[in-house]
Amino acid sequence: MPDFKGLELTGKTAIVTGASRGIGAEIARLLGKRGANVVVNYVSAGSQQRSEDLSKTIREYGVKAVAVQADISKVAECPKLIEAALGISETGKVEILIHNAALGVDANLVEVTEELFATHFDTNVKGPIFLTKAAEPHLPQGGRVVFVSSAAARLGVAGQTVYAATKAANEALARVWAVELGQSHGITVNCVNPGPVATDQWNESDEQFRNDMKPLIDSTPAAARIAEPNDIAPLVAFLCTEDARWSSGGVLCANGGLYN
Ligand SMILES: NC(=O)c1ccc[n+]([C@@H]2O[C@H](COP(=O)([O-])OP(=O)(O)OC[C@H]3O[C@@H](n4cnc5c(N)ncnc54)[C@H](OP(=O)(O)O)[C@@H]3O)[C@@H](O)[C@H]2O)c1
Repeated sequence: MPDFKGLELTGKTAIVTGASRGIGAEIARLLGKRGANVVVNYVSAGSQQRSEDLSKTIREYGVKAVAVQADISKVAECPKLIEAALGISETGKVEILIHNAALGVDANLVEVTEELFATHFDTNVKGPIFLTKAAEPHLPQGGRVVFVSSAAARLGVAGQTVYAATKAANEALARVWAVELGQSHGITVNCVNPGPVATDQWNESDEQFRNDMKPLIDSTPAAARIAEPNDIAPLVAFLCTEDARWSSGGVLCANGGLYN
């Protein structure tokens, strides 16, 4: 009889930041489909309805799901997500934390403003640090933390001074926390690094940037196409499983071999 027990997420509870749309929505949906209870986080009032609709879809898989508005760039709002997760947890713990929410506005070095720097670092770096700090007392042995990083962390792409720096910071955090939360806590911390994915972040990037990326996309070893959110979510879901226990502090290729 086939045995998929090592891939089960049943009974676990997950927080997915930035789950109203794009990659985060697909991760939240898949974790729910694989048996996890899910906190669907969003920030904009305009995303409330779709976050609630997604939570309803996830509940139809027979798990619990709740949409929670919280701005992860504000330290004071992070505990809302932990409280919501504990509210739907069957174990009194929060087994899975997915750092997906991020800003990604392109700006060449000469265009970078202090405000762009601050908003991106607050959302992409400060948010994950303080949310993980708030989650730490509730993450059990076997807990999983996964960052949605980006190929931009290591692939030099013009226009990504600040964004790339925040994603490189995510990968550094994964390496540090793999040690800090490893032997003492039994938690693994990893990243996935998508290349271009067809989401709002991509569609809202400027045309020049998308044109510049076309030759790169066409050279993707796995297929000459842009990724879809459902190319990324299964890799994140895998890192959340018991079977992924020996992977920590790493970056799992999520870009079709474009960059590793
Ligand atoms: N798309 C790509 O080509 C690509 C490539 C590589 C890596 N990535 C990474 O993949 C992740 C998801 O990207 P995406 O393209 O799916 O993003 P997206 O479509 O732009 O969606 C961003 C999500 O983050 C949420 N968010 C933004 N700021 C937040 C805050 N302060 N607090 C809480 N939530 C916040 C948004 O919530 P609202 O809906 O409420 O605004 C939304 O759910 C990001 O980490 C991104 O860097 C994307």
